[in-house]
Formats: sequence, structure tokens, C-alpha cells
Amino acid sequence: MTAESGDPAAARSVAIIMDGNGRWAAARGLPVAEGHREGARALRRTVEAAIDLGVRSLSVYAFSTENWARPPEEVESIMELLGETIDRELPDLAEQGVRTRFVGRRDRIPEQLRAKMETLEAETASNERLHLWIAFDYGSRSELVEAVRRIVSDGVRAEDVTEQAIAGRLLAPELPDPDLVIRTSGEQRLSNFLLWQSAYSELVFTDTLWPDFGEDGLRAALAEYASRGRRFGAR
Ligand code: IPE
Ligand code: IPE
Ligand code: MG
Repeated sequence: MTAESGDPAAARSVAIIMDGNGRWAAARGLPVAEGHREGARALRRTVEAAIDLGVRSLSVYAFSTENWARPPEEVESIMELLGETIDRELPDLAEQGVRTRFVGRRDRIPEQLRAKMETLEAETASNERLHLWIAFDYGSRSELVEAVRRIVSDGVRAEDVTEQAIAGRLLAPELPDPDLVIRTSGEQRLSNFLLWQSAYSELVFTDTLWPDFGEDGLRAALAEYASRGRRFGAR
């Protein structure tokens, strides 16, 4: 059953920590950039599968605030690949009704790439079939620090600091809390992804490396989600 059928056990908002590109490449004796390239193909497949499976919002972790610590040539290859993905893959998805938005810092991204990101956001703004959020130069702690700064600069009084006041000052307040967070590659941690938003998310970990992920993996994670009992602290 998919979310389209109105089943409450279906995940409408899904987040994915797309991990394992490096190991995928290493296992084949390929440069790490090839792993990231294959990862971009997996993203395309997964977005198409998500549409078919009734997911309405998909948030994917593509580059973290900590990933700047990688070798400069790898960082450069990821930046280039995002540019290529915006040029080649995302327009096709836009034709299928995908709205793409980026969540993360923008100030450290090369100017040309930032312009491409903004153009894609503007061009897909009215698409409604699936909302794709690409977390790029994203880190939850940095996001929360920024939210606190805004609370202070807005002159919010201590007694008016509420969960809503914080949630409304996150980088993308409209990004829905994920029902389900999937992490590929066997690692079992959040690595600074959507810490506030995932307070009550169901977590699914799979050993599949991200470049090998696709419809089957998404289907399996959604089935696992459907079997869970969510209580949100209540009986
Ligand atoms: C995830 O794959 C992509 C990014 C973090 C940009 P990795 O590159 O982290 O893959 P592993 O963990 O080294 O296998
Ligand atoms: C998390 O993966 C970031 C992304 C998938 C973009 P990492 O590979 O960077 O995380 P750690 O270092 O294993 O925690
Ligand atoms: Mg990794």
C-alpha cells in the first residue's frame, strides 16, 4: 500500500543519509569520484521510486558541514557533480513534477554552482508531485546555532522562546519532520543530519551501499516503517 491510498502506516516524509559511495568505489578499485557519480544515479532512481511509492517529501543528505574536511580534490568532485546533476538529472525529474530545494549554508558554495541551485529552485517552485530537499553544506548544529542567533536578533523574550519559535527559524521551516530516516552502508548514526526534525522519526539502517540503492531498498524500508508502532511518548 502506498501513501497515496491514505494509509496512516505509509511514510509520506522520508529522509535518506546517502552513505557508502567511497566504499563502493574502493571495492571496484575506482577513484572515489566514481562512487559519487554512481551515487547521483542512485538518487535519480530513488526519487523516481519515491514518486511511485507515494512519498511526498524526500530529504537527502548530499554534503555535510563536516565533509569539507575531505581532500580538496574529492570536495571539488562533489561540487562538480552537483552542478552536473542540476544540469542533467534534475530537469528530467522536474518534468515529472519534482520541486527541488536546497537546505544548508550557501555562503561557502562556489558562485556558479550557487546560481545553478537558485535557478533550479525558482524553475521548480510550483511543482507539487514530490518535494525533494537536498541537504548540501548542511549540519544540524550549525542550523540550530543560526536559529538561536535569529531568535536573539529578533529580540524574542526568554518566555517567548518556544518549540515553534525555534522550528520557525530553521533553515527550511517548511521541511516536514521525516516519518522515516534511512541510512545506507551499514553505519548506524545520524552524522549531524536533521537532529531537531528527526526527534520522533523511525530509523532504518541498511547495509546496501548508496550507489546500489534504489526502488527495492526504498520499498523494503517503507515496509519496515509500516510495521513499526509509533507512540510519540503516549500509551
Ligand atoms: C557518502 O558517501 C557521500 C558523502 C558523504 C558526500 P561516502 O563518501 O561517505 O562513502 P564512504 O562512507 O566513504 O563509503
Ligand atoms: C554523512 O556521511 C554525510 C552524508 C551522507 C552527506 P559521512 O560519511 O560524512 O558520515 P560519517 O563521517 O561516517 O559519520
Ligand atoms: Mg561515509
